[in-house]
Amino acid sequence: MSTEQTPALCVNIQDLEYTWANGVRALSIRHFSVLPSERLFLHGPSGSGKSTLLGVIAGVFAPTSGEATILGQPFHSMTAAARDRLRADAMGVIFQQFNLVPYLNLVENVLLPCRFSRDRAERVGATDAKRIDKALHLLNRLGLEEEAKANRPAAELSTGQQQRVAAARALIGSPSLIIADEPTSALDAETRDTFIATLLSEAQQAAVLFVSHDASLSNHFDRLVALDNINFSQDERVVSPPLNMPARAEA
Ligand SMILES: Nc1ncnc2c1ncn2[C@@H]1O[C@H](COP(=O)(O)OP(=O)(O)OP(=O)(O)O)[C@@H](O)[C@H]1O
Ligand SMILES: [Mg+2]
Repeated sequence: MSTEQTPALCVNIQDLEYTWANGVRALSIRHFSVLPSERLFLHGPSGSGKSTLLGVIAGVFAPTSGEATILGQPFHSMTAAARDRLRADAMGVIFQQFNLVPYLNLVENVLLPCRFSRDRAERVGATDAKRIDKALHLLNRLGLEEEAKANRPAAELSTGQQQRVAAARALIGSPSLIIADEPTSALDAETRDTFIATLLSEAQQAAVLFVSHDASLSNHFDRLVALDNINFSQDERVVSPPLNMPARAEA
């Protein structure tokens, strides 16, 4: 993304609501923003809506109401296909379930975003050989040199190794926004610290939105946000007055 196109805010959420098809309202957020290049640590109890919020920001889920402007694009009024395009061009996402393609090898998994975005493929390198070199560089940085060389399918990796492949895939092609949902849950303490340091250094100028239950990781980040403090969906779930109590008359 060129300098003149860089929006003032990387993520700008206003009056966002997200309700699942079964009626569970997961998000009710007045305001939430992320600055370009900011490293933000988002935490909150299980079920508080972290993955749902990341899904809206990644463009996987459309807001039920309100505005979600991501990298300058109004996701609340865009089609799913247009949101998918922006994600492929400009975002790196590490989902809580990784979403690797099990029968592809490590390098093929890392280079998947290049299949969906020509811009991104060109940013990685002009030829297949250059792209493979870049994928191997990231896999080496994340401690997967041997596994990458062995040409094994992703399905044969441990959970922690799969998380690191998903991180390399998120980093490939200089995305402007990296979204990471519990990317260290299967890593031991030492691997975890190295992983975060590598992720943040390879992210270069990208904004990083990182979700974790592990508060000890927060010292790597510029800002901490507790989702409970900004998400009021629980408070607003009362839909009818209690029995025996007349509904309040309109003023
Ligand atoms: N596919 C779904 N259909 C319906 N409700 C869902 C779905 N996924 C999540 N929810 C509900 O949305 C709310 C928020 O879930 P979410 O997965 O965003 O929480 P979380 O903070 O990421 O939790 P965790 O820390 O366990 O990953 C929960 O009440 C959950 O039950
Ligand atoms: Mg989650």
